[in-house]
Amino acid sequence: MLVLGIETSCDETAAAIVREGREILSSVIASQIETHKRFGGVVPEIASREHLDKIVSIVSEAFTQANVSQDELDGIAVTIGPGLVGSLLVGVSYAKAMAFALDKPLVGVNHIEGHVYSVAFENPPIEHPALALIVSGGHTNLFFVPEAGKYKVVARTRDDAAGEAFDKVAKLLGLGYPGGPVIERLARQGNPLAVKFSLPRMGDGRPDFSFSGLKTAVTKYVRESGLQPLTNGEEPSQAIKDLAASFQSIVVRSLVGTMERLAEEYAPKTLIVAGGVACNGALRDASRAAATRLGLPVYFPSPQLSTDNAAMIAAAGTVKLLAGERAGLDLNADVTLRLQNIEVEDAELRRAGVRYKL
Ligand code: KG4
Ligand code: ZN
Repeated sequence: MLVLGIETSCDETAAAIVREGREILSSVIASQIETHKRFGGVVPEIASREHLDKIVSIVSEAFTQANVSQDELDGIAVTIGPGLVGSLLVGVSYAKAMAFALDKPLVGVNHIEGHVYSVAFENPPIEHPALALIVSGGHTNLFFVPEAGKYKVVARTRDDAAGEAFDKVAKLLGLGYPGGPVIERLARQGNPLAVKFSLPRMGDGRPDFSFSGLKTAVTKYVRESGLQPLTNGEEPSQAIKDLAASFQSIVVRSLVGTMERLAEEYAPKTLIVAGGVACNGALRDASRAAATRLGLPVYFPSPQLSTDNAAMIAAAGTVKLLAGERAGLDLNADVTLRLQNIEVEDAELRRAGVRYKL
């Protein structure tokens, strides 16, 4: 089965052709990072215009690189949400027009489910139940996945997403956009114990995440310590490297600590860590250590598949197409689309062989 994936939910225009949901024949990504850099974040209006400019050439490049003709396609999968409405609509409209013109089946894919499927490549098939930590610039969720296509959110962020926290802290320190890669690079030369930040905890004891308090703590530390943010791309001081390392370490501890705690509760057979922040080496190392303690395999996408791409959308779409799902030409973008389609019942969990009590 050959599926074309199209992804335009944020600031990457991407198209990919994937065979059998596991083999990438092409994955073309046009990033808008250079355009949005000077604003320190994504400007929605500019993002949708760039998608419009690029979508035709990116999709056509995906066919050229895969050496596949449009007739050979078995279906088209497109991200319908969550994301920026103007951006999503470019991909959705394009995919609908193409499906109509070529008379090919079409399915809509939830972007976050796409991130879950980014581990379908370069890893063994996923054994369910799985526990999936999806950490990106827009989302931070931990999902219990009793079987493919079923999701229960077991922890979510109450405020900022983890990637957003990296981006905001980098902006505060004058390190540029996106913040994750630069903070990771500086953190390698810093002392993670230099600045003491406390681990965010929920007053109600739920296992949710919260990163905005940490961002405020970093702001306060910068103000009180007199640390100078960079202004002109100069070499960062040791104090900035120490702060980057301390911030990164607390984010990683919060993410992995919660994943480990919920893994003990839900007894999954596989751990999945995906999304842009999954590029982070410290997060990968800590997740591997937790997986070893739990005696479980942990799967990550390769770095190119961790950030937004269309191969993951094609992989998720393949499963839906194989299950007979079809979208009509009334398919629409849904900015706040959620990925929680089940409330897990005790009986269902027992069937899945899980010792979890709701
Ligand atoms: O998945 P993604 O490309 O877009 C969204 O769906 O949001 O994730 C982008 C996010 C950005 O916030 C970026 O700072 C973060 O992923 N990121 C990282 C790293 N590389 C990208 N965060 C931490 N460490 C990294 N190495
Ligand atoms: Zn994403």
